[in-house]
Amino acid sequence: MKYNRNILITGGAGFIGSHLVRLLVNKYPNYRMINMDVLTYAGNLANLKDVEEKENYEFVKCDICDFERVQKIFQDYQINSVIHLAAESHVDRSIRDPFSFAQTNVMGTLSLLQAAKHAWDGDFDNKLFYHVSTDEVYGSLGEDGFFVEATPYDPHSPYSASKASSDHFVRAFHDTYGLPTVISNCSNNYGSYQFPEKLIPLFINNICNNKPLPVYGKGENVRDWLYVDDHARAIDVIFHEGKLGNTYNIGGFNEWKNIDLIKVMIKTVDRLLGREEGSSEKLITYVTDRAGHDLRYAIDSTKLKEELGWEPSLQFEEGIEKTVKWYLENTEWLENITSGDYQDYYNEMYKAK
Ligand code: NAD
Ligand code: DAU
Repeated sequence: MKYNRNILITGGAGFIGSHLVRLLVNKYPNYRMINMDVLTYAGNLANLKDVEEKENYEFVKCDICDFERVQKIFQDYQINSVIHLAAESHVDRSIRDPFSFAQTNVMGTLSLLQAAKHAWDGDFDNKLFYHVSTDEVYGSLGEDGFFVEATPYDPHSPYSASKASSDHFVRAFHDTYGLPTVISNCSNNYGSYQFPEKLIPLFINNICNNKPLPVYGKGENVRDWLYVDDHARAIDVIFHEGKLGNTYNIGGFNEWKNIDLIKVMIKTVDRLLGREEGSSEKLITYVTDRAGHDLRYAIDSTKLKEELGWEPSLQFEEGIEKTVKWYLENTEWLENITSGDYQDYYNEMYKAK
């Protein structure tokens, strides 16, 4: 079968990457998807069991920082598009170990950009380098306002500093070498297959197991939550219709104070487990705040809606119900992922709290 696109998706075994791979593999049988992932603690091929036998899907274990190998993969698979998601993604880890964030998120992105530049060698017809980034590059909002595409960068955590830096490298390759690039900056995602170090899966798991719920500070920080499949749909739209050199913000206009969101999760888990609704609130434990904790994120995704017609499809109430049910029904996935490497980290983190 001849494919009219050979798409390198980096980080496809992670949370968002696996949802994106599933969407694209099923929707575009005429595209070949090459999932390049080094399988860190956050990468799990079990996330992709349902597509691993598909003809237009291939997995390659490779570190994006390994420039020689990345170059060879561009040649071997005749890569003409890149959707780059591979990253160290957890803010708390970046506070403890900023080096690995600079290495993967900055140097890894640079390695991919340089490989694309070499492989495409000035022939940019039907080529695209798409960088999947975060709203955290914009810093923190006060009580009012939204991040728009023109909001100046003001990252505070080592994670967001590394993502901001990688965005700047992508723009530099567009402006300096003419590389066809596009960037999207998305708000907090939630849904199935998210590693249980992030707020939503961690707390669902802890509520089920009657473990303390470590709320940072007073629980008053605000995040703008988007269902992961809506993010994957947005990437699909931007990949096909985004204007080269442009940035698109992706968000759900769905802001929640952490403590209010936690109470919704508690009610939902309690109800689904047949407990008295709200009885698990006793698990809430206020702990020392995250260093440099951004107060509020809120994305204005008007550009994406008006120019490319994308809107979130799922109401939050429906999304959180689906998500809680998924974690309750997939305890084996959770058990597998919470063993080994992650377990050590988790125990250490918990001791510190
Ligand atoms: P994740 O941590 O779940 O997955 C990251 C994946 O990248 C894993 O499969 C891991 O094995 C792989 N990876 C890490 N280092 C690698 C390396 N050196 N070489 C090859 N593969 C490597 O992350 P996620 O939450 O799915 O986020 C994916 C992307 O989306 C990231 O770039 C992140 O910054 C961005 N993003 C995430 C969110 C969110 O809410 N999770 C929101 C906006 C943007
Ligand atoms: O905004 C997009 C970003 O969202 C992505 O770029 C990141 O990759 C992703 O991890 C996420 O970052 P956050 O730091 O916002 O997500 P996290 O789930 O770690 O935390 C959400 C909020 O909950 C935040 O205010 C910190 C708080 N929190 C988190 C944890 C893990 C707690 O109060 N207790 C916790 O144990």
